[in-house]
Amino acid sequence: MFTAGILTISDKGWQGQRYDKSGQVVRDSLSLLGSNVVKYEIIPDEVDVIASKLAEWADGGSLDVILTSGGTGLARRDVTPEATLSVVDRVVPGLTEAMRAETFKVTPSAILSRAVSGVRGRCLIINLPGSPKAVRECLEVILPVIPHAIEIIKGEVTEHEAPHSEAEANAD
Ligand code: MTE
Repeated sequence: MFTAGILTISDKGWQGQRYDKSGQVVRDSLSLLGSNVVKYEIIPDEVDVIASKLAEWADGGSLDVILTSGGTGLARRDVTPEATLSVVDRVVPGLTEAMRAETFKVTPSAILSRAVSGVRGRCLIINLPGSPKAVRECLEVILPVIPHAIEIIKGEVTEHEAPHSEAEANAD
């Protein structure tokens, strides 16, 4: 069980011109994992607004993970990765690298997302692209490792206690 915040980043969503289907997809996927979504907000594609919201949520201490959706592309107002990088202490490149590499196999435009992820304090922050389809595809790749990532960040287990796959166990 872990606590999550969902931050949808969309000018249109913030203006009330678009229903936030992607936020709903994140919420549904997290509930299957038994996660408790304790914060949810839609904010505009403004780098300062995004950065201060991420910092406020991460520093509040009630969230293990923040999943953002949107603003990761190549349009002028897509600034979610820059805002995220400005607030994390350390980047965790593998999560978003795997997201792109795996989902590229079914959706070539996946490599147009500049999503990043990292850790601020004890909170994991992960960018997801904005479309509901993209969110579904990307979460399928990363959700299985999120509970273990959170355990490590919280100091509940060390990397060496990671659950081994059968292949890894045989190699020991
Ligand atoms: N990743 C997956 N898995 N599936 C998708 O459909 N859409 C891409 C990409 N990542 C997509 C995806 C597209 S078309 C864009 S423009 C970028 O994400 C950026 O989206 P964003 O600006 O809404 O974050």
